[in-house]
Amino acid sequence: MTFKTLEWKNDQLFILDQTRLPLVESYIKCTTYQRVARAIKKMVIRGAPAIGVAAAFGMALGARQTKTRNPLFFRRELLKIANILTTTRPTAVNILWAVERMKRVAEENSKKGVPAVQEILLQEALRILKEDIQANRQMGKHGQILIPAGCSILTHCNAGALATAGYGTALGVIRAAAETGKRIHVFVDETRPFLQGSRLTAWELMKDRIPCTLIADNMAGALMAQGKIHLTIVGADRIAANGDVANKIGTYSLARLCHVHHIPFYVAAPTSTIDLSTKSGEKIPIEHRSPLEITRLQGRPIAPPGVKVLNPAFDVTPNRFIRAIITEKGIVAKPFKSGLKKIILPEN
Ligand code: MRU
Repeated sequence: MTFKTLEWKNDQLFILDQTRLPLVESYIKCTTYQRVARAIKKMVIRGAPAIGVAAAFGMALGARQTKTRNPLFFRRELLKIANILTTTRPTAVNILWAVERMKRVAEENSKKGVPAVQEILLQEALRILKEDIQANRQMGKHGQILIPAGCSILTHCNAGALATAGYGTALGVIRAAAETGKRIHVFVDETRPFLQGSRLTAWELMKDRIPCTLIADNMAGALMAQGKIHLTIVGADRIAANGDVANKIGTYSLARLCHVHHIPFYVAAPTSTIDLSTKSGEKIPIEHRSPLEITRLQGRPIAPPGVKVLNPAFDVTPNRFIRAIITEKGIVAKPFKSGLKKIILPEN
């Protein structure tokens, strides 16, 4: 990989600015949790696992910003920072997962004093980053078995290295299949309105020399009817306990299309994306974003001024349309409810 989605260097967090890709490869420097929160909100960094890792560094930076040496004040400050980070984007559960883990570590080590906890939190964020890359590699290993040589794959949004700490989830599986020497081809949905497919996924695949073709979102059905798509694989922002999946808007339509055309529809996500506390998909909060993402393209108006706009960033795919869920701990088949529980809580 010739780029790093995010990197801790010289006591600062560097984030690859995804709003400028594919034209400009530049990094923003974060020395405060406020800057990290803003980068997540503005989608300088996006993708469920990546914003989870960024939020962990946000916690570490926030802990370093606090001047107090009083453990009680420190704790209060940390909770305030956690709240700001978790409310940046509501759908991806990975932010919540990472922030909770950081809070837990701070709590467990609170007796060691504030300076020690500050260092421990930084080490934990670095661990979360490393574990995410390892999880993606594992997911790739498990998932590539599902990708037959010579097949044409459809993917939506960006579930690649850019959406994670590295390697990717859905794109990680595709990468792993290509690395084993299988000849594959990827159809890339452009993914209106934020264009994660055309700007980011196509960029990543071309960098890796994996053959790909960019399509507008509304072309997928026709290609399926023509037999040109053999399987679909996407990432996830949150997987409910019953296997319903929240992912980029448009995923639900693709899953239904796959169902009608008898095409396998797979979801690849790390276990940090699985939320057993959310029973089913309709309970997942869906982020609504600015109408300007729809009415403007690169700053230029493309719709009549004042038009009413709806811009949900995610939709929910019911579990019945999903063939299997690929995680770093293995492939989960139906019934998802027991399968997911088993990999998250193996002792139960
Ligand atoms: O709004 P985004 O770009 O953060 O949405 C990202 C997605 O929907 C991805 O498919 C999902 O986070 C999985 S990324 C490994």
